[in-house]
Amino acid sequence: MNLTLKVWRQKGPEVKGKMETYQVSDVSPDMSFLEMLDVLNEELVEKGEVPIAFDHDCREGICGSCNLFIDGQAHGPMHRTTTCQLHMRSFKDGDTIHIEPFRAKAFPVIKDLVVDRSSFDRVIQAGGYVSVNTSGNTLDANAIPVPKEDADMAFDAATCIGCGACVAACKNASAMLFVSAKVSQLTLLPQGEVEASERVKNMVAQMDKEGFGNCSVTGACEVECPKGISLENIARMNREYLKANVSPGK
Ligand code: FES
Repeated sequence: MNLTLKVWRQKGPEVKGKMETYQVSDVSPDMSFLEMLDVLNEELVEKGEVPIAFDHDCREGICGSCNLFIDGQAHGPMHRTTTCQLHMRSFKDGDTIHIEPFRAKAFPVIKDLVVDRSSFDRVIQAGGYVSVNTSGNTLDANAIPVPKEDADMAFDAATCIGCGACVAACKNASAMLFVSAKVSQLTLLPQGEVEASERVKNMVAQMDKEGFGNCSVTGACEVECPKGISLENIARMNREYLKANVSPGK
């Protein structure tokens, strides 16, 4: 396939960026999207030009690094697929593809297609953990019975890879789907119950502090999420937040 790429180029956080046009030829339909960018970068290097900066790590759909906005969609046109798992057979010969970084105030561009998602790390630091008594009397986690339905829901929430597609897809740049998945995966389990109140209050406060927008329940986040994280998590987080703020002594 021969393709035209319109790629966002930006030298640094403070520099104004713009779309640049590149032609790529002989692209195999079996290449992944990132491999296609690798080939383009090799050509740019050979010509003495600066390669396009883009984020990636596992290339297996599990780390959440490969956050590209492709033709107006987070991670491109394939449903429930990360950019690294997207293949060029999803495009046609002669296509023009627009590639941009995830855009949100809380995800400032570092360079080209790479954004700073450390705001997510700070939300996790605010409460995405459980405390365990390691005094020597630690209870084996398997000794605590967990209803199967709760375990399944916690597991589903835990499949969030923190890629930020929910934020990029949302017209408000809201991080509610991400934060609610992280709150849910702990709150649904007995081990997470001890800090449930403080956790939801602190994580929501940090989310707001980072400059993410509010949720207006358009549902774009759930549609674009490569892991299919459900809006039910947002409803659960809202209930937990309300409970934490009205319960005496919490
Ligand atoms: S590179 Fe890890 S999810 Fe795509």
